[in-house]
Amino acid sequence: MSDMWDWLAARAAEREAAGLRRRLRTRELGDGLVDLAGNDYLGLSAHPEVRAAAAEAVWAWGSGSTGSRLVTGTTTEHTALERELADFVGAEAALVFSSGYLANLGVVTALAGPEDLLISDAQNHASVIDACRLSGARRVVVEHCSPIAVHRALAGTAIPYRRAFVLTESVFSVDGDVAPLAELAEVCREHGAALLVDEAHGVGVHGQEGRGGAYAAGLAGAQDVVLTVTLSKAFGTQGGVVAGPQAVIDHLVDAARAFIFDTALAPSCVAAARASLRILRREPDLVERVHANALRLHAIAVDAGLPATAPSGAVTSVILGDPDRTVAAAARCAEHGVRVGCFRPPSVPDGRSRLRLTARADLTEEDFARVSTVLRGIPHNGIGPDQFHERSGQPSVV
Ligand SMILES: Cc1ncc(COP(=O)(O)O)c(C=O)c1O
Repeated sequence: MSDMWDWLAARAAEREAAGLRRRLRTRELGDGLVDLAGNDYLGLSAHPEVRAAAAEAVWAWGSGSTGSRLVTGTTTEHTALERELADFVGAEAALVFSSGYLANLGVVTALAGPEDLLISDAQNHASVIDACRLSGARRVVVEHCSPIAVHRALAGTAIPYRRAFVLTESVFSVDGDVAPLAELAEVCREHGAALLVDEAHGVGVHGQEGRGGAYAAGLAGAQDVVLTVTLSKAFGTQGGVVAGPQAVIDHLVDAARAFIFDTALAPSCVAAARASLRILRREPDLVERVHANALRLHAIAVDAGLPATAPSGAVTSVILGDPDRTVAAAARCAEHGVRVGCFRPPSVPDGRSRLRLTARADLTEEDFARVSTVLRGIPHNGIGPDQFHERSGQPSVV
C-alpha cells in the first residue's frame, strides 16, 4: 500500500518540468506589500464601516450561519441583502449563495439538463465551465466575445434541444475585457435562448455607478437574462448571488443543490456586503477611481518597456509568455514590495502566461512610485502583447 500515491509524485514532477507547480504563499499580517493581486477593487475589505458591520453581525448572530438557507441559515441580513442587491442591478429578485462559484454551479445545474444546449464563451471562468459540465447538458464552446459565433452555434446545431442558454462573463476575469452583452442578448432573443451573465468582475466596477455590465447594456430587469455576482471582489467580503426574474429565483430555492445542501453564508459576510453596497451607492466615484488607477498602472508598465494590455476595466496584464519567467517576475515583484497576480496554464492558454496587475480605488502616490520602480526591474523580450499565439476560436466541447 505504501506506493498507493507514487503517481502523484510523478504528476508533480511533470508539472515542475513544465513550470506549472502551484504553491501556497502564506500572507503575513502587515507585510506592507502593495497588493495588485487581489480583487478588492474598491478597497472595501478593510474599510472601517465594512469591518464594523461584519463585527456587529458576529456579535448579533454568532460567527456562523448555523445551517443551510432552508433550515436556519436565512437571517434578516440575507433577505435584506437580496432585496438591496436586486434593486442595485435592476433585477426582480436575488438569492445569496455561499460563494460565486456555488452561485454558478447552482443556477446552471438547476436550469439546464441533458436535453438542453449550453453555449459557453471560450474564456469563461472555471466555475462556469464546471457548472456546464455538471449540468449534463450538451455544451458548445464558442469564440471569445463573438455574437456571430453564438448565432452560428444556435442556428447550426443539427441535434434538437429543449432549451438553450448562452453563458458569458460581463467583464472577463483574466484579460479584463468587456463582453458585447447587448449584441449577445439580441442573438439570444432571435433564438429564444436565455443569457446567463457572470458579473463577478462587473458589478461594483463596471457600468454606471458600478451597477454592472448587464445594467450598462440596457438589460436590467430583462426576463431572459440571469446574473451571477460575487461578493468576494468589489464588495470586499465573501459570498455569491444570483439575480434575475422572480420565477428563476423561486426555482433555485426548490432546485439548486449548491444552495439547498450548503451551509448558508455567514451573517458577518452578508452584513459586510450590505455595508459595501451602501458605500458604493454613496460614493460612486470609487468606480471611476479604479478605472483611472488601472490606466495609470498600464502607463507605468508601458513606460517600463513591458508588453501590457490596455485595461477596459481594472485589470492590466503583462504578458510574458513563458510560465517560469512569469513566476520569477512575480517573485521578484514580491521581494521588492509589490504583490502581483501570476497566471499560467491552465488558467490562461499556452504561451500566454502573464502578470496581472489589478487596480484598486485606494492606491496611493507612494504605491504607484513603488510599482514603477519594481516593474522597471522586470526583464522582458520586447514582444508586444498581441504577438503571442491566441487561443483558436473554433467551437469545441468544454
Ligand atoms: C468570473 C468569476 N466567476 C466566479 C468566480 C467565483 O467567485 P467566488 O470566488 O466568490 O467563489 C470568480 C472568482 O473567483 C470569477 O473570477
